[in-house]
Amino acid sequence: MFASLAVFTLLALKACTVSAFPAYQSLAGLTREELDAAVASVNFVPPPPPPGPLSDQSAKLVNDAAHPYQPLQPGDQRGPCPALNTLASHGYLPRNGVATPVQLVTAVQEGFNLENSFARFLVYSTFLVNGNPITNLMSIGDKTSATGQDPPKPATVAGLDTHNNCEGDTSMTRADSFFGDNHSFNETRFQNLVKYSQKYGAGKYNYTVAAQLRKFLIEDSIQNNPQFTLVSPRLFTAFAESVFPINFFIDGRDTSGQLDLDVARSFFQNMTFPPDFFRRSGAVSNVGQDVVTNLMPNFKPGYNARGVNTFTVDPTSATLTQPCVRYYNFVNNNIKGLYPNPTGVLKQALNINLQYLYEATVAAGDNCTQVFPYGH
Ligand code: HEM
Repeated sequence: MFASLAVFTLLALKACTVSAFPAYQSLAGLTREELDAAVASVNFVPPPPPPGPLSDQSAKLVNDAAHPYQPLQPGDQRGPCPALNTLASHGYLPRNGVATPVQLVTAVQEGFNLENSFARFLVYSTFLVNGNPITNLMSIGDKTSATGQDPPKPATVAGLDTHNNCEGDTSMTRADSFFGDNHSFNETRFQNLVKYSQKYGAGKYNYTVAAQLRKFLIEDSIQNNPQFTLVSPRLFTAFAESVFPINFFIDGRDTSGQLDLDVARSFFQNMTFPPDFFRRSGAVSNVGQDVVTNLMPNFKPGYNARGVNTFTVDPTSATLTQPCVRYYNFVNNNIKGLYPNPTGVLKQALNINLQYLYEATVAAGDNCTQVFPYGH
């Protein structure tokens, strides 16, 4: 009773003062941050640990009667990742596209057989920069009030569409952020994927096509996007995602390694499993990525420093062979940049999620020293 009264008073105070006071101004002895933390603490439940690997990793029907495709409802979130979009449209994730880290790890394992440590790493990386640590919810698309009250700025809690947290340039079927829409399916870019599949894959998307297309897309962005950037963490996802369609979008009963382009469109554009689709057999992550990187052995992370065609190496970025630099920079720059001085339950939630992120790097075999940006 007392707790809810106190909370109600805080909420009323907040509602009344939100537009009258600039951010961080003292309110009845509380700073804005303390007030936000106090209000947010109402619903705070320490986030549970992620699930382990699937016990049964066999190929199986995933477009089943329990997971029918349903079209989007107003307000549902979809974003740059064709796999997460599909999982939401089939109910492996909440259909509104707002999910917890545990739901995300469970869904990518169950629906696609993504390997456990890789799934955890992807999910906690993106969650820490794009999700709400207090409510434990993240949008797989745009910013939405469905993730609850935001923690104090500069945190954004703006979903996977957020440019340069994990989403980035040089995608296969989404335009670079500079050109406007960085998250919706783009037919022109898909037609380019088709063109490369015809030229290098006899009409199918395979590892050879993935390598040629990745090289082309990087060169294309250097030549046409004055704000092009390809540094860690996006560097890692750009190369891994090139092989994901081969590893996960081919039916689990088909071992040819050749992705049919109608099936590709089903995921990339329509956000649906093809009829009767089986997930792959056996959990994997980015197998085949070496074929892609071997075509560009001298590529180094960097950005267009002074407009198009001014690609400049960024020596501060991790390279593809420096997973621990990636981890340190991500924690100390990306996460700390959004949460410079967290307090209370916000700090507690960040520390728990940072622990889950670190455990994923250890499980993936990266022998990095743990960093504690907010103390132990
Ligand atoms: C088996 C699981 C997954 C598959 C097959 C997959 C596949 C893909 C592919 C192919 C793209 C590139 C789209 C394009 O370039 O047009 C992509 C983008 C993306 N995915 Fe996933 N993904 C998976 C899991 C995840 C997870 C677990 C997360 C995070 C929770 C995630 C977050 C993203 C983001 C942020 C992008 C945007 C990158 C960009 O284009 O800038 N994905 N995904």
